[in-house]
Amino acid sequence: MSIAERKISVELFYQEKRHRLTYIIVFFAVFFVDVYSQINIPIYLNETKTIEERIEHALSLMSIEEKVAMCHAQSRFSSNGNPELGIPELKMSDGPHGIRMEIKWDSWEQADWTNDSCTAFPALTCLAASFNPDLSFSYGKALGEEARYRGKDVLLGPGVNIYRTPMNGRNFEYMGEDPYLSSRLVVPYIKGIQMNGVAACLKHFALNNQEDKRLTINVEVSDRALHEIYLPAFKTGVQEGKVWSIMGAYNKFRGDYCNQNDLLLNQILKKNWGFDGAVISDWGSVNNTKKAALNGLDIEMGSLTQYKNAYNNFYLAEPFLNMLRSGEIPVEVLDDKVRRILRLHFRTSMNRNRPFGSFSTKEHFAVSQQIAEEGVVLLKNKTNLFPIKKGQYKKILIVGENATKILTVGGGSSELKVKKEITPLKALSNKYGKDVISHTLGYSSDPALCQKASTQDSLISKAVEMAGLADVVIYIGGLNKDKNQDTEAADRLSYDLPFNQNRLIESLLSINKKVGIVLISGNAYAMPWINKASSIIQSWYLGSVAGDALANIISGEVNPSGKLPFSFPVKLEDSGAHAHDESSYPGVNGTVTYKDDILVGYRWFDAKRIKPQFPFGHGLSYTNFGLSNVKTNKKEYGVNDTIKVLFDIKNLGYLLGSEVVQIYVSQESPSLMRPIKELKGFKKVSLSPKESQKICIEIPTKSLAFYDDGKNGWVLEKDKYYVHVAFSSENVIKSIPISIE
Ligand code: GLC
Repeated sequence: MSIAERKISVELFYQEKRHRLTYIIVFFAVFFVDVYSQINIPIYLNETKTIEERIEHALSLMSIEEKVAMCHAQSRFSSNGNPELGIPELKMSDGPHGIRMEIKWDSWEQADWTNDSCTAFPALTCLAASFNPDLSFSYGKALGEEARYRGKDVLLGPGVNIYRTPMNGRNFEYMGEDPYLSSRLVVPYIKGIQMNGVAACLKHFALNNQEDKRLTINVEVSDRALHEIYLPAFKTGVQEGKVWSIMGAYNKFRGDYCNQNDLLLNQILKKNWGFDGAVISDWGSVNNTKKAALNGLDIEMGSLTQYKNAYNNFYLAEPFLNMLRSGEIPVEVLDDKVRRILRLHFRTSMNRNRPFGSFSTKEHFAVSQQIAEEGVVLLKNKTNLFPIKKGQYKKILIVGENATKILTVGGGSSELKVKKEITPLKALSNKYGKDVISHTLGYSSDPALCQKASTQDSLISKAVEMAGLADVVIYIGGLNKDKNQDTEAADRLSYDLPFNQNRLIESLLSINKKVGIVLISGNAYAMPWINKASSIIQSWYLGSVAGDALANIISGEVNPSGKLPFSFPVKLEDSGAHAHDESSYPGVNGTVTYKDDILVGYRWFDAKRIKPQFPFGHGLSYTNFGLSNVKTNKKEYGVNDTIKVLFDIKNLGYLLGSEVVQIYVSQESPSLMRPIKELKGFKKVSLSPKESQKICIEIPTKSLAFYDDGKNGWVLEKDKYYVHVAFSSENVIKSIPISIE
C-alpha cells in the first residue's frame, strides 16, 4: 500500500469518533515504521539525504573498476550504471527536434522498433525565428516528455553553435547568428526538458561552426570573439539554464580537441562557470586517454565504432584503469568524474519523483504547430499576394519538390521517425480543395533525375506550361536534408539554391504575374530573381505539422510573426566568414582562423556598410504596427542599474498579429573596437486590431560590457551609449542617447 493510500485509509478510520485512540496509536506506529524503514535504507538510496551526501556514500561503496566503468559507453547510446548498487545505466538519445528512433545496441542501424514514432518539432532555427522564450519552454517541456516516455535520461540537444557561415550544414539545428537571441531561448528550452527528470545536453561545446573537416579542423579565434560571440549561449545555458550535461565538440580549439581541452572544460566550463554536471564527448571524438582524463571529459561515447563491442578498449576504459592503477593518473581525477556522473544519475535515472512523460500526443502536435506558425517569416509582400484567401482563386498551381518531400528524415543525427508529417501539398489541398489545387515538381533532388539536363528542362517546361494556365502559383522549394545541403558532416558547396531552382523561379515569374515564393531551409541562399519576386516567405523544417502551419500562414488564418535569426547576404562574399581568404573558411592546413572576429552576421554588415538581402530580425506581418512614446526611464545610469526602455505599440491594421520589438545598443567611443550595435533585448507582443499596449523592456547596464582580452575580463566603460528601438537590425525606429557613469 502506498504512503498516500495509507494516509487516506487512516483519515477515514479517524472520522469514526470511537476509534480516536486507536487512530493515534496506529498513526504513530505508521510514522515509526516509516522512519525506521528510512533509517535502514543505505544513504545513497535515501531520498531524505541531500544529493551530495548520496553521491559521497555511493562513491565510497564503489571499486575503482566500477568507477571507471561509469566513464564510458556500454552501447552506442548508453553508459554503465552500477549493477551491484542498483544504479541504472544512463540512456541517451538524439536529438534537438524530436526523439530519434531506437538505434541498435552496438551499431548505427535503426532497431526497427514499432513503438518509437515520435512528434517532430520544428528545427531550432524556426524556434529562434519565433523570438518567443515562452514557446521555447513549451518546446523543451514537450520534447522532455517524449524523451521521458521513451525511457531516456539524457537528450542530446539543444545545439547553440553560432551561425557564422551560410555554408555550415548544421545551422538548421542551431539558433542563429546572435549570442543574445540564442542565450534567451536556450534557457527555457533546457528548463522545459529537465523538469521531466531528463538531462539536456548542450552542444557542441565549442566553436563547431562548420561541418567541413569537423572531426579534425582546428579553430583559432580571438578571446574577444570567443567570449562575446561563441560562448555566451553555453555560459547562459550553464549558469541560468542549469544544464545537467554538455557535449564536447569534434573540432580542436587552439590545438586541442574539445573533449580533451583543459582551457575549455576545466578552466572555463567547470572552474569559471561553476558547471556541476557531466561532460559527454561527441561520438568518436576522443583519441587520448591522459588528455581526456586530465582535461575534463567525464563520459566517453562513440569511440572505436569500427569494431564490434569495443567498449572495454575505450580510452576511458582499460587504458584509463591502468593509468590509475599505476598512479600515472591520481584517483581524485576519477572521483571528480564519478561525482559528476552520479549527480547526473540522481537528477535523472535515480530520481523517483520524475513524471512519466507522454509521446506523440495531440498536445505535442499542437506545440509543434504553434512553434512552426510563429517561426515562419514573411520576407516580402509588395503586391499583397499573401494571404491567399479560400475561394479567391479557382486554379492554384503548387510548384516544387518541397511541397511533397518528407523533410523529417535525413540531416544526420537529428533524423526522426515520425508518427505523422503533413506535407505542404496535402495541407494546401485540404484547405483550398482538391479541385483548386494542382501540383508539379518543377525540379527534382532525385539523383536519377536531377543530373540529366533534359529531365530538368522537361520538369521546368511542364511547370511553366501549367503556370501559364493557373490563376496563381505558389512555389515551394529551398534546400533539403541531403548531403551538401542542410545536413551534418558536410557543408554546402554553393550559396545558390540547388537543382536549377533559380532558372525555374525566373521562368515562373516571367510567365505569371502572381507567384508566391515559399522557401524551406535552415540556411540563407542567393536570390538572383529577388527584384521580380513580389512575395516571399522564408519557411523552416517545420516538423510533423509542417503543411498545416504553412497553409495557415499562406491562407491568412495565422498572421506571420517570425523574424530572421540570421542575415541573408546578397552574395556569399558579403558574409564576414567569406570576406577573407580560405584560411578564414573552410581553413587551410587543418586550421580555420575566424578573421571576421567579433563581427559576425549583422555586426559585419553594419561595420562594412554592406546591405544584406534581408537583415537579421526582419519579418513582415499581414498587419502593421506603430510605436509611440518611445523613451528610457532615465538618461544617466550607474554600473549596477537597469535600463528601462518604454514605449507604446499599436496594431494599426485589421488582423490580430504579433510584432517583435528589438533593442540594440551602441557605445559611442569604446576603448576597443566594438560592433556598431548589438542586440540586448527583445519582446514579442501580440495585439488585436487597433489594440495598443504599453511595453517595458529591461536591460541590465552590465550587459553592455565588452570582453577586454587585455584584462581577461568584461569591462563596462563610462561613456555615451545609444539605445536603438527597432523592428529589425536595419529598421531602427528611434535611437535614444543615454550615459553610463
Ligand atoms: C553526432 C553529432 C551529435 C550527436 C551524436 C550522437 O555525430 O555530432 O550532435 O548527438 O553524434 O548521434
